Amino acid sequence: METHNITIVGGSGIVGREFLKILDEQNVPVGKVRILATQRSAGTEIFFRDQKIIVEETNPEKFNENDEVVFLTATSDVSQQIAPIAKKHGSFVIDDSSAYRMDPQVPLVIPEVNASDLEWHQGIVSQPNCTTTPLVLALAPVHKENPLQHIVVSTYQALAGAGGAALKGLRSETKAALEGESKPSGVQPREIAFNAIPQIDIFAENNSTKEELKMLNETRKILSSPDIAINATCVRIPTFFGHALSIWAKFTHPIEPNKAREQIQSMSGISVQDDVKNEIYPTPLDAAGIDDVLVGRIRQGNSNNELMLWAVTDSIRKGAATNVLQIIQEASKRGLIRRR
Ligand SMILES: NC(=O)c1ccc[n+]([C@@H]2O[C@H](COP(=O)([O-])OP(=O)(O)OC[C@H]3O[C@@H](n4cnc5c(N)ncnc54)[C@H](OP(=O)(O)O)[C@@H]3O)[C@@H](O)[C@H]2O)c1
Repeated sequence: METHNITIVGGSGIVGREFLKILDEQNVPVGKVRILATQRSAGTEIFFRDQKIIVEETNPEKFNENDEVVFLTATSDVSQQIAPIAKKHGSFVIDDSSAYRMDPQVPLVIPEVNASDLEWHQGIVSQPNCTTTPLVLALAPVHKENPLQHIVVSTYQALAGAGGAALKGLRSETKAALEGESKPSGVQPREIAFNAIPQIDIFAENNSTKEELKMLNETRKILSSPDIAINATCVRIPTFFGHALSIWAKFTHPIEPNKAREQIQSMSGISVQDDVKNEIYPTPLDAAGIDDVLVGRIRQGNSNNELMLWAVTDSIRKGAATNVLQIIQEASKRGLIRRR
């Protein structure tokens, strides 16, 4: 990849920090790295390689044509405010919030699945919700040969998916609960320690949550398949890292689980761990800190058009930071990032 200046808005959060860690792990060449956040963390020092980066407060005047890549990983409101400004300066903007995901002018990209959509970007690229990515990555290789008709998915989502404050809330609630006390931290709609909450994001008019609708709408957009039916139930569980998904999928034609296993295994970004005779399957702890989506429990459903599987992923890696880095690398390779 060419060397680019990268500006990270929300870089003091857990996704931003993981992004810096991955740049380092993969020895990615980068130019100037800037980190912006709120006034709360302005002035804080973040170390990246041999650089000490001082966090700056975010405001529209902070952006200019030297920002070749702008990674927005703060809130949807911040994305809506900053993305048009950075775009105007000619920056390649990647948004990690839900602000632009369903905008028809904005590609929504998982590089292993639809990298070619980057070609029509107009300055802003969006990346999917952290549960959409593992769902689509696991099913896309089968769908390519045997189109999906219907998906029913239930998720088991870790607190990391709700940001750094949610991790602290889980820690404090768990400590209190182990001492026999109930001290809801307010980071979730209910106390989360030793609980399971069937609400992620707010409720929409059809009584699904917005998280559940993201899985429906984003999957259809990424796969360019507006007719796939998707019923999702998204649940927060008291784990720190690693989201899990229980997936039922119905395809147009009969499906053979061994063939599906091979197709899924051949997908870049997926690792299949599926040997039930030896009790081998992945758990959220196995996915924490790694880039691959892990898939197991691949088996036939009740009819021969149905497949059932289990997938786990680290929401802040492939669900966020890893996917963003892959988007930058792919766009750079295709010459889609303007040089200063
Ligand atoms: N966590 C995940 O698994 C995941 C996955 C996919 C997408 N995302 C998306 O990524 C974004 C960040 O998530 P996160 O988990 O890293 O959250 P986080 O740990 O809570 O960090 C939020 C970051 O945004 C900054 N911020 C908040 N409000 C801001 C404002 N008004 N102006 C400028 N900066 C602001 C915070 O700055 P301070 O340090 O100053 O507070 C911090 O740097 C969210 O849009 C989230 O939906 C997260």
